[in-house]
Amino acid sequence: MIVITSPDEMTRFSSDALQRSERIGLVPTMGYLHDGHLTLMREGRRQCSILVASIFVNPTQFGPGEDFARYPRNFERDCAMLETVPVDVVFAPAPGAMYSLDAQTLVDAGDITIGLCGAHRPGHFRGVTTVVAKLFNIVKPHVAVFGEKDFQQLRAIQKMVRDLNFDVEIVPVPIVREKDGLAMSSRNAYLSAAEREDALALSLALRAAREKHRSGPCCAEEIVFAATRVLKRMKNVEIEYVEAVDAETLTRHPPLDRPILIAIAARVGKTRLIDNVVLEP
Ligand code: PAJ
Repeated sequence: MIVITSPDEMTRFSSDALQRSERIGLVPTMGYLHDGHLTLMREGRRQCSILVASIFVNPTQFGPGEDFARYPRNFERDCAMLETVPVDVVFAPAPGAMYSLDAQTLVDAGDITIGLCGAHRPGHFRGVTTVVAKLFNIVKPHVAVFGEKDFQQLRAIQKMVRDLNFDVEIVPVPIVREKDGLAMSSRNAYLSAAEREDALALSLALRAAREKHRSGPCCAEEIVFAATRVLKRMKNVEIEYVEAVDAETLTRHPPLDRPILIAIAARVGKTRLIDNVVLEP
């Protein structure tokens, strides 16, 4: 496994690999890896002859007052985990290497980023799609793997790829959870033992939503109500949103004959967590 920190060197590496007809896979991450990330890596490994993992805590997707400065980082441990996959290249650009001081061009995926997390984190998805577009141009992957944990992010990237004709196949991977149901996340490291218990409310709420959906004909509002009730039982959980949207378009008032996404964002103490489930008709 080699570590590359210079974008130019990464591009040279990929151009050489393409000349040898290698199939390049990319898994973009912000590091502080967990088994969710590694599941994405293993999927990339299965599909490609050269696997690149990027580690870059992207400043442009954090708003003022968000956790950019204190986002957890442990490069050594990340590399040890990536060796086990195994990954061929860790692309870890230095903070200054990705954005020149006068960079102004942004990629915005439009309406798909307006609701859900987009409504609470202005500019967040523009930061995500901009950095992912840059990573695609630098690494030149045939395939890029993304988790359904960040469902709106996945949809924004799929939209960007379609709208801008990126020749990259986007491979989605289902949410990886801890044994008790908590969705794995680098931000779980922020939780105290008590908060870790409270955080279970999110996956329990989604389970209630799934049960309501299964129990017979009901509307989206009733499903949202079932989930909200579980979250409200927990004192230290502050709901940011609970929504039912069309799983394809992320628009409200989803028709019930199509897959619907139930998405939750909530604060447990100071930590903002997200989780979701797709309910098939
Ligand atoms: P990060 O939060 O590090 O996540 C990297 C990738 O891992 C994303 O595709 C995310 O959806 C996936 N992932 C995280 N937790 C997961 C879980 N429990 N199950 C399945 N997949 C999971 O998402 C980002 O970084 C950034 O926004 C990035 C795309 C790298 C752009 O900066």
